[in-house]
Amino acid sequence: MADAPVPKNQTPDYKLFSFQDFNLISGIHLSDEVEQIKNWAIRDSDVFLLTYPKSGTTWLKQILTMIEAKGDITATSNQMVLETIPWIEVLHDKEKFTTAASPRIRSSHLPYKLLPRDLTKKRGKVIYVARNPKDVLVSYFHFHNCAVMLETPKDFNDFFEKFMQGKVFASNWFEHIKSWYLHRHEMDHLYVTYEEMIQDLRAVVERICCFLGKDLSSSEMDNVVMHSTFENMSNNSSVNYKRLPETLLNHQKGAFMRKGTVGNWKKHFTVAQSERFDLMFQEEMKNVPLSFVWDIKDLSV
Ligand code: A3P
Repeated sequence: MADAPVPKNQTPDYKLFSFQDFNLISGIHLSDEVEQIKNWAIRDSDVFLLTYPKSGTTWLKQILTMIEAKGDITATSNQMVLETIPWIEVLHDKEKFTTAASPRIRSSHLPYKLLPRDLTKKRGKVIYVARNPKDVLVSYFHFHNCAVMLETPKDFNDFFEKFMQGKVFASNWFEHIKSWYLHRHEMDHLYVTYEEMIQDLRAVVERICCFLGKDLSSSEMDNVVMHSTFENMSNNSSVNYKRLPETLLNHQKGAFMRKGTVGNWKKHFTVAQSERFDLMFQEEMKNVPLSFVWDIKDLSV
């Protein structure tokens, strides 16, 4: 079986496997557990952060952690953000989720169809973070080079093809964003983009506070923003993942906090790849009223 549990002290054989047409990773995910997630009971105070990989998940985790702490970094303890805001689909989270105190803030890369059905009864809140998919692809390529649980690509072309075909963890970018965006009216849902956060982080933090019903003072808000900048997060061991063991991240091969910008794809894509991507984007997104910022020059930062 592709996703059998791994005995303790044994390095898992990380491999992609498909569960209900969605790619997961053996050794990290179990289909039996993931299947149960849709039945989880949701509290009104629960917050779910949904993303396709490399869209700014960790950034949002830091923002949400800092909002909860009203900007006081000393109140956030020394825990890594992936412990403060765990992944629901990663092995054995169910019990911790059931017994955790409110507010339970959780993250997920799962598509709409696999998330708790309670969310569609407007119980709990959903924040979806999107990023222009060319930058997602490049960020994901670099992450594949250092993340031990992901297959190292032969080169950029090799990864480009895999991404275009959805042969990566979390499958196809277009399916993911459409699954969440087109069902947003069923949920208490906030959509934000990575590029908006680059352009005006404070404005996005204010929107998130408003959505969550958090009333922060101006100086508390300043602190949330200050501790969520790329520079400060890069130097913060709770969020830069430098504390993750080499069995999970090969730190010699790249930093998690890599570039943190808009338009880095231009240094990787060939003209032909960019044109092919644009065609696919037009076709896939023709009925979806979403647009993206592809270049830092198009932002007044
Ligand atoms: P790059 O690889 O392009 O630098 P995720 O957390 O979903 O895996 O996303 C990781 C991406 O978000 C990385 O992109 C990382 O550098 C970027 N990121 C994280 N925190 C950021 C911040 N404060 N400002 C800008 N980008 C940030």
